[in-house]
Amino acid sequence: MTSENPIFCALDTTELGRAIALARDLEGKVGGLKIGMEFFNAHGPSGYYAVAEAGLPIFLDLKLHDIPNTVAGGIRAVLPLKPAIVNVHTAGGKAMMRAAADAANEAGGARPLIIGVTMLTSLDASDLADTGVTGTPSDHVRRLAALAAEAGLDGVVCSAHEIEILKRDLGRGFKLIVPGIRPAGSDVADQKRVMTPAEALALGADMLVIGRPITGAGRPGDAAQEIVRSLAA
Ligand code: C5P
Repeated sequence: MTSENPIFCALDTTELGRAIALARDLEGKVGGLKIGMEFFNAHGPSGYYAVAEAGLPIFLDLKLHDIPNTVAGGIRAVLPLKPAIVNVHTAGGKAMMRAAADAANEAGGARPLIIGVTMLTSLDASDLADTGVTGTPSDHVRRLAALAAEAGLDGVVCSAHEIEILKRDLGRGFKLIVPGIRPAGSDVADQKRVMTPAEALALGADMLVIGRPITGAGRPGDAAQEIVRSLAA
């Protein structure tokens, strides 16, 4: 990923042609692309390679969550794709996360970053309570992120609201990937814990995941460039 451009654009589509067109349009305008379950479940490795041809680093957002042996196998299976980042759910526990990190280490130098999803940015405190978790989202995310660090993960996905506290808890080297990013005035849709790109970056986010504000724009490349300009302002 390019350190100057922290934006990973989420290609949430099942349309192969659209994903390829977006990848080409965004080349040189974002730091990387995020391929998630929507695209990968529809097109698998061949679709992945078609998108990767644009030359941008890929965050393979599969959010793996299963027993340790199965998750390790899932990581090993995607190593040949050479993604820059792969993720697992921290709720899968320490042994599962450690198995994921160990499997990634088998790739040696071309190893992807293994990142843990903490609490989805579409959830708020009352959603968390509905799942039986007592305490605040911040406490929950801190606990899960600390567990991820202990298990040897490279960082976590968190909301912009937890950036400061996690950098303080876990240090600058522990990567924070932040979705739920909305440029001022744009539609929040199903995201609940949102922030603007410039605010999230100023707080210390390492990467920003932005989907619909770019992909839903009439000219996605221009929308991405506009966001990059807002970071420098
Ligand atoms: O379109 P939007 O900017 O809301 O896209 C956000 C992307 O980040 C989606 O692809 C979603 O799967 C992902 N994501 C998220 N919240 C998390 C982890 C990933 O929104 N906690």
